[in-house]
Amino acid sequence: MSVASGKVTGAAVVAGVCGQPIRHSMSPVIHNAWIAAAGLNAAYVPFAPAEDRFETFVDGLRGGAIRGLNVTIPFKEQALACADRCSDLARLAGAANLLVFEADGAITADNTDGPGLLDAIAVQAPGFDLSASPVVILGAGGAARGAAAALALAGAPRVSIVNRTFARAQTIATSIGGVVEAASDDQLDALLGEAGLVINATSLGLGGGPGPAARLELTPPTAVVVDMVYKPLRTQFLRRAEATGRRTVDGLEMLLRQAVPSFEAFFGVAPPAGVDVRALALAQLGEAAS
Ligand code: ATR
Repeated sequence: MSVASGKVTGAAVVAGVCGQPIRHSMSPVIHNAWIAAAGLNAAYVPFAPAEDRFETFVDGLRGGAIRGLNVTIPFKEQALACADRCSDLARLAGAANLLVFEADGAITADNTDGPGLLDAIAVQAPGFDLSASPVVILGAGGAARGAAAALALAGAPRVSIVNRTFARAQTIATSIGGVVEAASDDQLDALLGEAGLVINATSLGLGGGPGPAARLELTPPTAVVVDMVYKPLRTQFLRRAEATGRRTVDGLEMLLRQAVPSFEAFFGVAPPAGVDVRALALAQLGEAAS
């Protein structure tokens, strides 16, 4: 399917991203940069169906009208429900961010958010050993759920979820089970004292405000601190972690890493090396490359 760069013909492979709203999604920038660099006859486009039209929209794509879809807020749970088959991780997470439309009409679902988190940690905190690292997740929305499932499957010894609304943390712990537990604010300091990994999965810090108030200085000096918020790139939460000497992982790296297995599923090849998608994404975010 390779053609002269930039050409999209009738034989093009089409994929996209579906959310509501979708106009600020960075996925089209990332995937189309890889498509251009690989010289693929392909396109990756945004879709924003009305909230009550998602299932109809997806159902109409059965049989391969397009190759696949990334799915974002607010459709990730519905995406899993639409699928005929799903990965263990998507089932455990209760949400899918990747749908592939098979030629026989079936839809397969996967969740690459969790692997994106693990890959981002591997890149920005090399040598991190999850099997020796109790995890504290702050927040209990969809992002926390995906992370908890992936970390549990990948062998974390304990995943404690602390959330303003305790019942939401309990719901996640009950549905994932195993090493995932809900913890109260009162337990947070003690959990931080043993944590090898602390993740902000709340929306606190978005747009530059203060992040979660968790006392990061209580963590062991080897702890790694992740912020899923990437606007701004260096959130106040990450700055506090850095100030205490902790290694940090930013939300943009997670976003870029979750795109890799999606690209492979859509276009059958790995993203080409040598494209600085991080710089492109930073430019779209209005941040200087770093
Ligand atoms: P997402 O799917 O991106 O995770 P979400 O489901 O809206 O988004 O979850 C946002 C998370 O940020 C929740 O854990 C939310 O806490 P509640 O479950 O109590 O709503 C958390 N959050 C948002 N604003 C917060 C605030 N001001 N203080 C503490 N937590 C907050």
